[in-house]
Amino acid sequence: MTYGYFDDKNFEYVITNPKTPVKWINYIGTIAFGGFVDHTGGALICKGDPALNRITRYIPQLPSSEFKGTTLYVRISGNGQYQVISPYFVPSLNPYDRYECHVGPGYSKIVSEIAGVRTETTIFVPFNDHIEIRDIRITNIDTKEMFLDAIPVNEYTHPDALKQFTNADWVPQTMQSRAIREDSGTCILIQYPFMFRDIKINFFTSSHPVSSFETDRSLFLGDHEYGTWANPQALAGDELSCCEANRGDNLAALMHRFGSVAPGESRRFITLLGQVESITAAMPIIEKYRNHATVDSAFEDMRMFWKNHFEKMQVSTPDADMNRMLNIHNPRQCYITKNWSRYLSLYQLGFGARGIGVRDSSQDVLGVMDRIPAESRDLLKKLLSVQNTNGSSMHQFNPVTMIANEGDSREREDHPHYYGDDHLWAIPAVTSYIKETGDIDFLDENIPFYNDNGKNGNNGIDTVLDHMQRALAFTNANIGAHGLPLLGFADWNDTINLAKGAESMFIACLYGLALTEMIELLDFCGRNNYAHYYRNDFNAIKRVFNKCAWDGEWYVRYFDVDGTPLGSNLNEHGKIYVNAQSWPVIAGFAEDHRGRKALDSAYKLLNTKNGIKLSAPGFNGFAPNKGGITTYPPGAKENGGIFLHTNPWMMIAETIMGNGDRAFEYYTQINPAAKNDKIDEYECEPYVYAQNILADEHPQFGLGRNSWLSGTASWAYQAGTRYILGIRPEYQGLTVDPCIPKQWDGFTVNRRFRGAHYTIEVINPDHVSKGVTLIVVDGKQISGKIIPILDAESSHEVKVILGAG
Ligand code: NOJ
Repeated sequence: MTYGYFDDKNFEYVITNPKTPVKWINYIGTIAFGGFVDHTGGALICKGDPALNRITRYIPQLPSSEFKGTTLYVRISGNGQYQVISPYFVPSLNPYDRYECHVGPGYSKIVSEIAGVRTETTIFVPFNDHIEIRDIRITNIDTKEMFLDAIPVNEYTHPDALKQFTNADWVPQTMQSRAIREDSGTCILIQYPFMFRDIKINFFTSSHPVSSFETDRSLFLGDHEYGTWANPQALAGDELSCCEANRGDNLAALMHRFGSVAPGESRRFITLLGQVESITAAMPIIEKYRNHATVDSAFEDMRMFWKNHFEKMQVSTPDADMNRMLNIHNPRQCYITKNWSRYLSLYQLGFGARGIGVRDSSQDVLGVMDRIPAESRDLLKKLLSVQNTNGSSMHQFNPVTMIANEGDSREREDHPHYYGDDHLWAIPAVTSYIKETGDIDFLDENIPFYNDNGKNGNNGIDTVLDHMQRALAFTNANIGAHGLPLLGFADWNDTINLAKGAESMFIACLYGLALTEMIELLDFCGRNNYAHYYRNDFNAIKRVFNKCAWDGEWYVRYFDVDGTPLGSNLNEHGKIYVNAQSWPVIAGFAEDHRGRKALDSAYKLLNTKNGIKLSAPGFNGFAPNKGGITTYPPGAKENGGIFLHTNPWMMIAETIMGNGDRAFEYYTQINPAAKNDKIDEYECEPYVYAQNILADEHPQFGLGRNSWLSGTASWAYQAGTRYILGIRPEYQGLTVDPCIPKQWDGFTVNRRFRGAHYTIEVINPDHVSKGVTLIVVDGKQISGKIIPILDAESSHEVKVILGAG
């Protein structure tokens, strides 16, 4: 069954059935002000910090039919009675004639037709202001006159999101609301916990006069809250009580009475939700956005931003699902993961200290370099500033306070308090940024360190290049019994937490890649007095890796402290891990025959029609000495589930080995757009990647979870654009080296690079996967595969012929 369709022309996915298996969401605004809105109008909005400055009370774990954060009721009056409908379907669940949720970049637009009333609501946060706008139009589509009212509602949380749930004594005694009635008939409801009254207040208002309001939830629902959100008792009477709550569960409801609306006539009004220091500070922004024309132009500005954002690279391949992902939804998801890291989603609830993950964001940023290089640079600086002077890195940080922590590792005294991979990700992130932008001066920018031998504050400062060198030095100095890098608390796989002294093959490979990137960088910028040391280090680690890690048919994943291999044929569970096969190829460690064999073993033992499993077989029982992996049943998440983040690494490895058919098979089998007609099995949004899909050892094989905030977005984008389509920025220019399915006749890419615009047409007359035989730039043949850097603002036609040789 399908629940909607892609409207590529408008950059939208349109949901046409509100009863999706789980809520499908969209992001509005940014981490500075914004959050997510679900397809039934519920919204989780916060300002600056989801943990400590949350505005609406959205409880994801409640059933889908429940009110969550925000809604709108419409009332139709007749015969002295009111019929209450929910234009967003939830919470009244009325039968509808039409329902659409247009999930667009930066906005959701819900259109419904219920009981002769069409309601259209566009929900967004404008670019330059911190305010949630709902632009609402109600139309009488019946044949007779109607009397219509509209009652938008927000339920507030205490700003300290966790306190809301952990303290039902203090929180309700602090919550207060006040109403400011204006001469024009409009009304501004303000709300705050008492201690913030003079510092920051939430406000909710609209552009239309209101006849009454409510701020107390118990009065709105009625009957001591035995009234329900589906049918609030307050809506049975003519007016709301106009209570200014002095405690309790606060909400903001505004009664708009539009009176008689003739057939075909509409009423438009705007609602505004925000947070300011004082009501005086709120007035300019309220007045600005009560104006319909201003709202229209703010929306148009946002549309233009996204149009330009998408236009920076557009592809046209023979595969429509690949096109819509690479042109619209994947760059959009990359932008969101770059902004929100793993902070706030239906799965990452934003209550605690997690904030921005260093490992995660260092990879997310790889997916946005080509479209928002300046923002990427800012994020890189933040990431480097939580590096310790010894070269290791803190694991995560709060982007507002920049206070960092060691993640889950701090909870285990018997484990090292660092993750073996965090610090190394900075190197490919910085080199990728320089390759995209040419901003070599970034290497000399001074960035502070976070921790000076265990002490915070006054921590020293050094250049970006120095940060990168310290990262390499840290791994080089933390080597185990086989001569391979120590695991620390964990590497990319958070859930394998072996005893101190265990070694990680993944870190060895990431170190190998980081060394190669460093050598290439130093050679390019002529600062190669260190390059030969790094070459020696690379050759040494590659040698050790191949000596110890080959298991016969594939590579081993870890050595435990006593030398026991994990990810070996010797193991009963977790015999083979996918990252141990893809990464030796990516790192340039695998000799050709071993690389091919490792990738084929992964194909044979780990691939499923829904994606490649992380490992197999799954552990079947809790084993504290292995760690979190054994908390999952076999086939779920890191315990043999399809952990999608790792799948693009296999695509990349296959393109390096020249197998374009398999790379594309891997691409397609996890492409969410290609799952649009399998939603009853998959369940998640078909317009963004999920983090995981249950694998074939699990009874619910094919079920996706943890959509939106996943490293899958960045890596699927990189695998698609840089490796399958093969358009890769380098220091010297733009490489074109595709690895595509043999049956493709070719494809085109329009891309901006260093300010110039390239239209690249790739033709595949011999039906090969890989092998560039000719590149012609503006009618002139060039040698090699790198299109040189051309003048900014100039446009160029590039023709590329693939062939057998
Ligand atoms: C999700 C985490 O955010 C990420 O950092 C980690 O690499 C994966 N889980 C795998 O454990």
